[in-house]
Amino acid sequence: MQKHPLIVALDFPTKENVLSFLTPFENRELFVKVGMELFYREGVPFLYDLKSKGHSIFLDLKLHDIPNTVKRAMQQLASLEVDIVNVHAMGGVQMMSAAKEGLVAGTPAGGKLPTCIAVTQLTSTSEEMMQKEFMISASLNDHVIHLCGLVKEAGLDGVVCSAQEVQRIREEIGSSFYTLTPGIRRKEDAADDQQRVVTPFLAAEYGADAIVVGRGITRADNPVLAYDQYEQEWRRGR
Ligand code: C5P
Repeated sequence: MQKHPLIVALDFPTKENVLSFLTPFENRELFVKVGMELFYREGVPFLYDLKSKGHSIFLDLKLHDIPNTVKRAMQQLASLEVDIVNVHAMGGVQMMSAAKEGLVAGTPAGGKLPTCIAVTQLTSTSEEMMQKEFMISASLNDHVIHLCGLVKEAGLDGVVCSAQEVQRIREEIGSSFYTLTPGIRRKEDAADDQQRVVTPFLAAEYGADAIVVGRGITRADNPVLAYDQYEQEWRRGR
């Protein structure tokens, strides 16, 4: 797997939309994120199409269910040989450990175990919302760190988090804990519904292992140019 990838979020409804987005990239091999919208429509065959074009895949389905169900679901996902999968940390230690067991059981002999990360709090969640809606009285940062501890305890590789949280995670959880950060915007782009946006440069300076960029690239007038600008800024900060 690429060491510090810029992952493009393919938040499109159909494979036709994805293919027209990818066409101007010609034969470049990208690292892409396939989320629920696209996967629920196009399913496994489209993942194989993307893999056959040389793209690496983060399958972002954010599993959250009872441990046994998550284990069996992960066993299925492991057989697809994608690069990164994820769960919600709020499912608890037992559920996350079960996810890992499923991945180990489902990875074909000689195949590479997918990186398994957990979502702590969505980057669209503000502290006020967390405290009022979920009645979690801790600060957002403390809660995220607490969840990271559970993720580590369960034996997963790391977390999806805001780049603003990376430095503290490095200090308190450890430097080999994988941090993948969405909510990335260049200064000139709109924040949309994200509450805690960070530039690619700062994400790199904070030490994020990977960034996920969606609308900043997919909705740009010239997506290839936008990709290159995000990529350059991400590399410059490293
Ligand atoms: O368009 P934008 O760059 O905001 O897209 C970010 C992508 O990352 C979306 O696909 C979103 O679902 C995903 N994501 C996120 N925050 C998380 C986990 C995933 O924004 N905590």
